[in-house]
Amino acid sequence: MTAMIEQLRKKLPYWVEASRVHTCDGQVASYIPELAKAPRDALGIFITGQSGETASAGDCGLTFTMQSISKVFTLILALIDNGEDGVFDKVGMEPTGDDFNSMLKLELVEPGKPFNPLINAGAIAVSSLIHGDSPPVQIERILRFFQEISGGASLRFNDSVFRSESATAHRNRSLAYFLKDNEVLGEEIAVEDVLQVYFKHCAIEINAEQLSRMALVLAFDGTDPLTGRELIPRRYVQIAKTFMVMCGMYNASGEFAIRAGIPAKSGVSGGIMAVVPGQFGIGVIGPSLGSKGNSTAGVHLLETMSAELDWSIM
Ligand code: DON
Repeated sequence: MTAMIEQLRKKLPYWVEASRVHTCDGQVASYIPELAKAPRDALGIFITGQSGETASAGDCGLTFTMQSISKVFTLILALIDNGEDGVFDKVGMEPTGDDFNSMLKLELVEPGKPFNPLINAGAIAVSSLIHGDSPPVQIERILRFFQEISGGASLRFNDSVFRSESATAHRNRSLAYFLKDNEVLGEEIAVEDVLQVYFKHCAIEINAEQLSRMALVLAFDGTDPLTGRELIPRRYVQIAKTFMVMCGMYNASGEFAIRAGIPAKSGVSGGIMAVVPGQFGIGVIGPSLGSKGNSTAGVHLLETMSAELDWSIM
């Protein structure tokens, strides 16, 4: 066991409690009604290292839906299914500086082509690229892929969250219809089918430990260090990590890159997946969100740890 994990085990409980006060700076997401049930003052973190060594603290028993964190892995699966050209024909490679569900830039540059695969419009386009004859087949493939990356965890969909989002997702529907109108979604693709795939992968339920295992595979360039199996081609992990640094925390990505300097991806349920390349996979849950949709306490915790442990890759 490394000296670092010993240090983490000792200090983690203090860092978590020092960051927990920042749950007061935010609110639990409520635009998906089911998410509003999450505990506002919760904060937990789970860290997994190369040999399976772990450190954890706080409320890491909490389960939550992946929401936007899932977009990293659907991007990777779409790359595996279609190659780089197939994916980047439909989505761009640039950060937007706008909110995650913004439609502002969709009409500005190449009409209808989303700027990147991590904003909602881009992730909806990516969902349409997952191979499979029907939404149930695509959804099953996504779930199986996620389970494999998480080291064989038995993940499931949270149906209440799925239904809650599907019933209220007027903005995502309008983004998807705009994509359809601009032929980013092909002729054979039904908008409601793509949305079903998108809402389902956002509603995959996970906990901080499982999330840290998924992050660990990214930390080791696509190979699960615990089994030695290559699960993702290294090139696709490079692409995913680059997007995480550029736009994983949406329009707070620049600030997070300056302060923490590690690839990370947040979701509106309050989860954050963070990667310390060559060292650790990290799962954080803190449902209280700031104005840009990131966990307030989770961001504070990761920034504190990165500064203390010199994790920045920059
Ligand atoms: O499409 C949505 O709005 C959600 N299913 C996911 C958004 C999200 O997680 C953005 N995160 N910060």
